[in-house]
Amino acid sequence: MTDDALSIRRAAAAELPALWALTLRTDAHAAPPAPGACGPDLAHLYTSAELFVACRGAQILGFVGVARRDRTAFITDLFVDPAAQSSGIGKRLLRHALAPHHGTRRFTLSSADPRALALYVRQGLQPLTPQLHLRLGRLRGAQASPRLVALLGRGDDPALLDWDARCGGRSRPADLRYWLEAERGVLLWLRRGASVVGYALVRLQRPGQPGATVGPLGVLDAADAADAVQVALGVALERAAEARLMLDGAHPALQRLLEHGAHITGHDMLMSDGPLPFDGARYVASGDSLF
Ligand SMILES: CC(C)(COP(=O)(O)OP(=O)(O)OC[C@H]1O[C@@H](n2cnc3c(N)ncnc32)[C@H](O)[C@@H]1OP(=O)(O)O)[C@@H](O)C(=O)NCCC(=O)NCCS
Repeated sequence: MTDDALSIRRAAAAELPALWALTLRTDAHAAPPAPGACGPDLAHLYTSAELFVACRGAQILGFVGVARRDRTAFITDLFVDPAAQSSGIGKRLLRHALAPHHGTRRFTLSSADPRALALYVRQGLQPLTPQLHLRLGRLRGAQASPRLVALLGRGDDPALLDWDARCGGRSRPADLRYWLEAERGVLLWLRRGASVVGYALVRLQRPGQPGATVGPLGVLDAADAADAVQVALGVALERAAEARLMLDGAHPALQRLLEHGAHITGHDMLMSDGPLPFDGARYVASGDSLF
């Protein structure tokens, strides 16, 4: 059945608080959403991605976000007002938002909602690995990493862009600037002896969420991945009472963190229409709507 009264158009800046209120009304959140007038990432997405709303008259019934970075398109959000769900709006929003991005690597994090999973699969995205949201207050009984140390870097170091593109698979200067400036990100260079083996951001101020967020983080060699996460978490917990991060199911740090007191707060499913430009065993995503 077609819904001729439904229109889909770009969101306006003044509508961002309404989009956040709609997000909070759905109950799909693997990680607790930030309260407040406007979600932490929506203003950044408004300027750096594409946000579309589905409206009937003046009423916003749903929205979708797509962040295009290099040859990738990441679906950042897909929400339909609970009162209007299961009437075809999510399907239309998703089709509309993805249409210009055929030929790119399209990927997303899906909630456990079977309607979301089904809509993504029907757009050609396959479920890959779970992404676990973790929170921890300290690493209970963990030995200090004997192999790696973290050195503070300067956020404007141009090497950060290269490391992040190499490990995260996309060049995204605006996102890095957002994390460093709006979320008080601290850049760490992870070193073994004199060699830099990876990088990490520890974000100290995510609006509405207590504690520090670790990510993005990447290393060149999966053998360094668990130590890298542990060292970055050590820095985060020196500066905040708790830390959070999101790990791929294949990440080597997962077992160690759960043995040492990490708490799983939720999980999402990583879905893609082909091989991803990063390796979940060596890359820790941002844990927010940008991946
Ligand atoms: C997920 C969501 C965005 C989907 O939007 P929607 O408007 O409710 O979904 P639609 O009506 O467009 O489409 C749902 C489709 O899923 C199908 N579906 C429903 N239950 C299903 C199931 N158990 N298995 C397979 N398919 C299923 C429906 O048949 C429908 O397809 P059809 O219209 O071709 O028959 C919306 O329900 C929502 O906001 N949910 C809560 C928030 C959420 O989880 N968002 C996803 C974040 S990644």
